[in-house]
Amino acid sequence: MSEGELDLDAINRRAWKERATVGAYVRLQGWTDPGEQAAVEHVAAQVRSRPILDIGVGAGRTTAILRPISSDYVGIDYTQEMVQACRAAHPGARIEHMDARDLSAFEDGRFALVVFSYNGIDAVDLAGRRQVLREVHRVLQPGGLFLFSAHNRQGPGFGEGPRLRFTFSWNPLKLGWRALQSVRSLARSARNHRRFRALNEPHPDWAVMNCAAHDFGIVIVYTTLSEQERQLQAAGFATELVVSNVDGRPVAHDADTSGITWFHYVARKP
Ligand SMILES: C[S@@+](CC[C@H](N)C(=O)[O-])C[C@H]1O[C@@H](n2cnc3c(N)ncnc32)[C@H](O)[C@@H]1O
Repeated sequence: MSEGELDLDAINRRAWKERATVGAYVRLQGWTDPGEQAAVEHVAAQVRSRPILDIGVGAGRTTAILRPISSDYVGIDYTQEMVQACRAAHPGARIEHMDARDLSAFEDGRFALVVFSYNGIDAVDLAGRRQVLREVHRVLQPGGLFLFSAHNRQGPGFGEGPRLRFTFSWNPLKLGWRALQSVRSLARSARNHRRFRALNEPHPDWAVMNCAAHDFGIVIVYTTLSEQERQLQAAGFATELVVSNVDGRPVAHDADTSGITWFHYVARKP
């Protein structure tokens, strides 16, 4: 990406492959939130010992969660640096370098469950998102499940701006180090935010927006619950369950979703 040229895909690809980003995902273990746990528990019994595709596997946090459900497991990521980190963390697992928009390496109906965790699908633009949904639908068996999470257009994270994030410590060395890191992070966030907000495109049901993650280093798609359900329906899915990231509880269609940062969706291919 040259100076002055802004492109969502190029911005996000560059953010994922940075050493700090890969390192952050290597350190990330366990559930991201109660909603992820509830959604995985909802699907686990139905897909036990059946084929699973884990898209945007990152450094393998979800590999540790999904392989105990089935050893017929493939993880994919379009960031080579993440693929390497994941292979190093899970030497016995099948991890491939692949873009979710093109799953032609897999035949129709290959998987019982496809997962795209931690809002990874939001890092693809709207046209790409439709391609992902089509491809996931194609590689799923009839009755198969797609589990993914996506940022809420009406949630508290939408439209955030850079601010100083700092955790106090009584240890003077730690305190100094944290202060330095916080100031660096704020400066980087402010720079990225100034530059990438040119791509912001807010609409009532969806939006493209610079997001706080990785020092405002990524630009993502936000969707309302009803817009996401429409997209799933257009791709041939039936939405089976939507849960909140905050407490893992099911979210009703007419609920006030302003406190929910992201939703976990379980959709079924009929
Ligand atoms: C937010 S990280 C989540 C990593 C991991 N799933 C986790 O929860 O720890 C998103 C990951 O999705 C990957 N990703 C984003 N778009 C992708 C695409 N179109 N195809 C494959 N991987 C993608 C990124 O490289 C990154 O590793």
